[in-house]
Amino acid sequence: MDSIVVKGGTPLKGKIEIAGAKNAALTLMPATILSDEPLTLTNTPRLSDIKTMTTLLESLGVEVTSLQGGKVQVMSSHGMTTTRADYEIVRKMRASNLVLGPLLAKHHQAVVSLPGGCAIGARPMDIHVTALEAMGATIDLKDGYLHATTKGGLKGAKVPLRFASVGATENILMAATLAKGTTVISNAAREPEIVDLADCLRAMGAQIDGDGTSTIEIQGVDRLGAATHRVVTDRIELGTYMLAPVIAGGEVECIGGRMNLVSAFVEKLQMAGVEVSETKDGLRVARANGRPKAVDVTTEPFPGFPTDLQAQMMAMLCMAEGTSVLEEKIFENRFMHAPELTRMGADIDVQGGTATVTGVSKMKGAQVMATDLRASVSLILAGLAAEGETVVNRVYHLDRGYEHVEEKLGAVGAKVERVKTDG
Ligand code: UD1
Repeated sequence: MDSIVVKGGTPLKGKIEIAGAKNAALTLMPATILSDEPLTLTNTPRLSDIKTMTTLLESLGVEVTSLQGGKVQVMSSHGMTTTRADYEIVRKMRASNLVLGPLLAKHHQAVVSLPGGCAIGARPMDIHVTALEAMGATIDLKDGYLHATTKGGLKGAKVPLRFASVGATENILMAATLAKGTTVISNAAREPEIVDLADCLRAMGAQIDGDGTSTIEIQGVDRLGAATHRVVTDRIELGTYMLAPVIAGGEVECIGGRMNLVSAFVEKLQMAGVEVSETKDGLRVARANGRPKAVDVTTEPFPGFPTDLQAQMMAMLCMAEGTSVLEEKIFENRFMHAPELTRMGADIDVQGGTATVTGVSKMKGAQVMATDLRASVSLILAGLAAEGETVVNRVYHLDRGYEHVEEKLGAVGAKVERVKTDG
């Protein structure tokens, strides 16, 4: 299993190209099931989660051709062979559950294993199930699998979500494109990845209004056609690399970055005394003098501060001046990076969903363990400012969500190296 070795203390300077969004690609890929004609995605990130989704789609009989070193996926579902998503694949990644809505809508049946994914809380699927039942599906849980059927196809319905779940909104949105009549999702998630999915579905011929707001209205159509769609920029990768110069010092331009993808996050950076400006090609971040200042952060659904940037933000707050309070409102058990950061000299007190972080003037390199995807990268970020060497072990989670992290950080002067270890 690989480790990442970070030698801290070098200020950064240069440009980092931000990839297409993992979380957008993971819902755009299953959308191919809705059509017999090809769906081509460009700007897909080169990540192990994308390979897992490819394996899952191929197991259903979808043809997936990966071009340009993984940056383009051409998919065709005309020869699908099964509607069963097996545990062996689904357990690797929660987003596998995004085949449920498309399978039900197109084939009127699906057997989908309950998912695994990052160990960051309970992550049930009740919101998906309740909504699809409202649209006329019958869903039973047997042997760890959801068995879903719908006689004569899904029907449009009013679907209020008890929480603005990203995955549930995506599943319902995809399902509703082929349902009979009109579906109205209220309390829908408003994440940019939802808007990206709606854009792609519209290009395939779907009729959707209101994506990006809390109420999405979908008028079902008989069939969807072929489309080519460019995956939106990854706002989480963007935020992660924007934090690198804040932590290490220096100045980085994130190419492809847009303010409207990360506005709540940028607001907090500015409160911490960080300079963020828009450039022709992206966003430029600079930390000129001294340490950033402490800021309080609460994670919320979009447009609030994203839970997927909480761990990285904590790494920054560990070396800020003053005390910050971080509240995690989306997932319980998402502070597993805190004890690892503490091993590097951070002062963090976790009580339930609240972490109180008192900044220290110097972090120290240590051996640490990556516990989930975003936690892994937060430890690398912390290592950029730490004295000496930080070794982040068990980085397989990292490769699920960050392509070429050592090259991207290396290109702006960071000393980050991947070390192959046995076992
Ligand atoms: C997506 C993102 C993930 C991000 C999360 C929140 C993808 C592939 N993953 O995950 O990176 O951290 O949004 O922004 O896009 N919940 C229920 N019942 C349900 C569904 C969800 O109780 O049926 C709860 C979850 O346990 C969690 C909260 O709702 O506490 C948010 O989950 P959700 O928005 O569904 O996240 P995902 O779509 O799984």
